[in-house]
Amino acid sequence: MGGKDHRPIQAPEEDWIQAVREKLLDWYDRNRRDLPWRENKDPYRIWVSEIMLQQTRVDTVIPYYERFMSLFPTPGELAAAEEDEVIKAWEGLGYYSRARNLHTAVKEVVETYGGKVPDDPAAVSRLKGVGPYTAGAILSIAYNRPVPAVDGNVFRVLSRWFALRDDVTRTSTRRKFEELDRLLIPEDRPGDFNQALMELGALICTPVSPACADCPVQGECQAHHDGIQAELPVKTRGKPPVPVRMTFGWIMNGTRVLLQRRPSEGLLGGMWGLPSVETLPEEPVPGGTLRDHWAGLGLDLELGAVVGELEHVFSHRRWFVTLVQGLCPAEESLPEDCRWVEENELERYALPNVYRKAVRMVWDHPHRSHGFHQGRLF
Ligand code: ADE
Repeated sequence: MGGKDHRPIQAPEEDWIQAVREKLLDWYDRNRRDLPWRENKDPYRIWVSEIMLQQTRVDTVIPYYERFMSLFPTPGELAAAEEDEVIKAWEGLGYYSRARNLHTAVKEVVETYGGKVPDDPAAVSRLKGVGPYTAGAILSIAYNRPVPAVDGNVFRVLSRWFALRDDVTRTSTRRKFEELDRLLIPEDRPGDFNQALMELGALICTPVSPACADCPVQGECQAHHDGIQAELPVKTRGKPPVPVRMTFGWIMNGTRVLLQRRPSEGLLGGMWGLPSVETLPEEPVPGGTLRDHWAGLGLDLELGAVVGELEHVFSHRRWFVTLVQGLCPAEESLPEDCRWVEENELERYALPNVYRKAVRMVWDHPHRSHGFHQGRLF
């Protein structure tokens, strides 16, 4: 129970620390996964991997990472790329502000630090999108600095080793765990130790049904000793995503489809998508709000039938989407954030997953004959 644990940090005994270091690193040496960002200690490669690994699983990241590194093998090449190319390379990974921040920060590294990722903690932490975890990961893994890197895996492992019931969603807990980690990190292998903690969290000390029988530090784990590993870590629930009704338009003009760039701030900021409006549940005609919105911009839509409905969950929003089709006369001049795109060229756009689902829904629709170039309602 709880989530509060105000016990001050008790420095572990020196013998305990030595045992944990030795057993964990030995286990890591024998069990570490061959991951592409572990091939060398290039700080840029490690940085990109850590940004991709925020909110995304290792297995999902690997192919994206390989492709991204072949497109942009050095900070210079990433800095020189257009933002659209960077976003396109990130397509499908989600949380696109990560890519935009990385791009901005890499440009700064090129302009201010001659293309070398700084090894000074203050300078690394000032880079856009680099929080305490990422800074710690870059400094410890690439530069062998004994700096904590506490991610979700490490929270879980440490809360169990020390049977701490601190609520891991609180900033004060992060500081406490960083202090603990700092006591444990060995001077000679800080990056390996941090990665070993993450690896233990990913492979053995898992959220559900941890494999304690296979754990190299089972004997050192207080939660295992007390039989409370399943109760840890304590997380007060984040708020559930807010439900929002949306209408997307599949608006055609001959062989072209209308795309609209989302406002630069907010959810999917700056990304291309299908024209979208938030909709009230009591909308009398499906697509009516969308049509009225476009009429307000001077565009005359002829609405067609609903193509389908879909649901998509973001971290703070749950979209319930109705997809409607429509036609729009060619001669209408478009608002700046819109463009007509040949349907068979849609793939060139880095559409976020929710819009890709919608496009797929159109392409899979049974009333649509196969191929592109429809240009009429179905
Ligand atoms: N998750 C975040 N960073 C990681 C890393 N360097 N190795 C494995 N999993 C990770």
